Amino acid sequence: MPRVMSTLIPLRDVRPAAAAPHDRLNRPLRDLRISVTDRCNFRCVYCMPKEVFGRDFAFLPRELVLTFEEIERLARIFVDLGTEKLRITGGEPLVRRDLPGLIERLAAITRRDGEALDLTLTTNGSALAALAGQLAAAGLRRVTVSLDSLDDATFRAMNDVDFPVDKVLAGIAAAREAGLTPIKVNMVVRRGLNESSVVPMARWARDEGYILRFIEYMDVGHTNGWRLDDVVPAAEIVEAISAVMPLRPLPPNYAGEVANRWSYADGSGELGVIASVSQPFCGSCTRARLSADGRLYTCLFGTEGHDLRGPLRAGAAEDEIRELVAGIWERRGDRYSELRSAATENLPRPEMFAVGG
Ligand code: GTP
Ligand code: 5AD
Ligand code: SF4
Ligand code: SF4
Repeated sequence: MPRVMSTLIPLRDVRPAAAAPHDRLNRPLRDLRISVTDRCNFRCVYCMPKEVFGRDFAFLPRELVLTFEEIERLARIFVDLGTEKLRITGGEPLVRRDLPGLIERLAAITRRDGEALDLTLTTNGSALAALAGQLAAAGLRRVTVSLDSLDDATFRAMNDVDFPVDKVLAGIAAAREAGLTPIKVNMVVRRGLNESSVVPMARWARDEGYILRFIEYMDVGHTNGWRLDDVVPAAEIVEAISAVMPLRPLPPNYAGEVANRWSYADGSGELGVIASVSQPFCGSCTRARLSADGRLYTCLFGTEGHDLRGPLRAGAAEDEIRELVAGIWERRGDRYSELRSAATENLPRPEMFAVGG
């Protein structure tokens, strides 16, 4: 009799593979962005303008927000359906209590093929100096930090809560120290506010070895008063940097990458431009978003989400939720950024902080 031990197959090879759903445009479900809170300690003028999100604004009451256990259950279902990357977002994810506890749960999930998930987080960096070590120890692999200027006055004006830039820089340094690399830095460029920070930010990121990504200001939500005139197109950003530090294009890292990549002409450094307004990339969009209250959005501009919290709390079985999610994805035909026009301008759409960037 052969010994049982010799016939054991590693667990990862026996997990039943659920069919990986593809949407109506044949896009697989590869990334899940999980918003863990709709709250934030900043009031960035392009995201949560103070006049709208003041003291009286009704954020989600705690009982409507998914618990860590619920998030983990859903994440496992998405991974079963082929998701390879989990990105934790908010609001500001680090204002959620014990976030390393959630990271620990998610870090224990492996991809269908047995590989490790790409587990990352987008943060405004304000609490990173305190938390980077714990997050890394819990299994977080890397971070993306939002930073709109190195100039303190400009940065304070953009976060609109008078938060000093030095603290964010200390947070980024702590993340590097903790090994949460490669570190990406997201800079939203808004005409009239921080264009003059573009070149200094590029120089700083090149010196420090961070991957800087410039993001075109987008018409998410209805509260930021977006106007096309306020968008600084990616081509203009690349031109401004190239004039002082020549750039050359790099090929994408993977199909469907959001940023167009560039390096400096001497082969050093890497920067990216996310041109969602001037060059939309819906054709390869494999991203789903889970809001803090458990709604599934299949587009950043999706009019309304699909409730997953209800079935979850009503005791639905794993299979039922998997079927529900797969069905939602298979019916998906979203490509808002490609269709953006006068006709789409007034459609209802969620705020960025509510669906998680
Ligand atoms: P990596 O995993 O490091 O490649 O990051 P990413 O390319 O997924 O970028 P990240 O999640 O940091 O997104 C950067 C920014 O790009 C977001 O904050 C948004 O402003 C914008 N963005 C990301 N995904 C989408 C999307 O699906 N649609 C649109 N219109 N914009 C997006
Ligand atoms: N346009 C582009 N990017 C935005 N972000 C927030 N609001 C907008 C907007 N209107 C960015 C943040 C952060 C990421 C989660 O989304 O700066 O980097
Ligand atoms: Fe907060 Fe990020 Fe929105 Fe700024 S962009 S208000 S840091 S969620
Ligand atoms: Fe994806 Fe919607 Fe963004 Fe297009 S607009 S890239 S479909 S999230």
